[in-house]
Amino acid sequence: MNITLSLIKADIGGYVGHSESHPDVLAQARDSLKKAKTEGLLVDFYVTKCGDDLQLIMTHKRGVDNKDIHELAWNTFISGTELAKKLKLYGAGQDLLSDAFSGNVKGMGPGLAEMEIEERPSEPVIIFMADKTSSGAWNLPLYKMFADPFNTIGLVIAPNMHNGFSFEVHDVKEHTKVKFNTPEEIYDLLIFIGAPSRYAVKAVYSRDTGEIAAVSSTQRLSLIAGRYVGKDDPVCIVRAQGIFPAVGEILEPFTHPTLVEGWMRGSHHGPLMPVSVADSTPSRFDGPPRVIALGFQLAQGILVGPRDMLADKSFDNARHQANLAADYMRSHGPFEPHRLPLEEMEYTTMPQIMKKLEGRFEPLED
Ligand code: F6R
Ligand code: MG
Ligand code: MG
Repeated sequence: MNITLSLIKADIGGYVGHSESHPDVLAQARDSLKKAKTEGLLVDFYVTKCGDDLQLIMTHKRGVDNKDIHELAWNTFISGTELAKKLKLYGAGQDLLSDAFSGNVKGMGPGLAEMEIEERPSEPVIIFMADKTSSGAWNLPLYKMFADPFNTIGLVIAPNMHNGFSFEVHDVKEHTKVKFNTPEEIYDLLIFIGAPSRYAVKAVYSRDTGEIAAVSSTQRLSLIAGRYVGKDDPVCIVRAQGIFPAVGEILEPFTHPTLVEGWMRGSHHGPLMPVSVADSTPSRFDGPPRVIALGFQLAQGILVGPRDMLADKSFDNARHQANLAADYMRSHGPFEPHRLPLEEMEYTTMPQIMKKLEGRFEPLED
């Protein structure tokens, strides 16, 4: 049976500031998706949040890029925005960049990751959601899960994974895509995905069967809008077990809090801290960036779960390390590499300062 898993998310208002989502907005979104389930549009749904982002996890039988599913998500965000405005939540409707729905939420502000799958006899999936960071944040974890034998021992000793995976990489600036086969092309792959502000892993496929293993959101809000409108706060769906990495191999990359772009004013590097859903409340310097992971078993499209996978004690050291890294990075204040390079910052005063200093720059003598 073919099932589509659609995860569509948006920041439609923060509580307080950009640190958290309001429970009433979540409750209203649940009502909206419940109605769609009763009417038969959805097979099942789960509504959650990561920091100030509202996350709509939906299963259905209509395939990816379906107009009715996207419209349901859009309308849920619109009514959520109305409530957010009533509560005077911060930045109400901030990710909705268009006034009218035109058939697909792509390019309209919300982030999305969707995959259509033939459900296996048992189908464990892990849904990752991040706040205060951008879409390239999944590059390093996805590389570790699907191409690094020091992370995923299954690549070495499991016969059904030994042929490796292929990575679809998007150039988010030029709007092009390219596929790499691993393990033989890892050096070529890394030259691109090691530059996550420009190249993002969109999807991963099993080379043996061609089946989709993972899909991420690659929308860059700042590039869509051409101005600062908030960080992407990306999401990613990963299938587990069997021909795919085990749940523990999928979570293992998050024992290392990698440095990602985002944090305060979307203009800093900081550690990606693995947390429970309850702890996705970025408060210290609007961060540090957070990642949560919900695990489900799919049963004819029913979302059995979730389990809050990163709440586990075994991520305590990663959280501690992330806090130490946060202190260290913060000690650089407004200096790079804590602050992002000039062209990557989401906020800048450079044009107005250059204008003020007009005529003060003199040529060097030599
Ligand atoms: C980062 C983020 C926050 C805001 C910051 C300033 O993604 O959302 O760090 O950039 O709180 O917010 P404004 O400019 O809305 O006052
Ligand atoms: Mg926000
Ligand atoms: Mg956010």
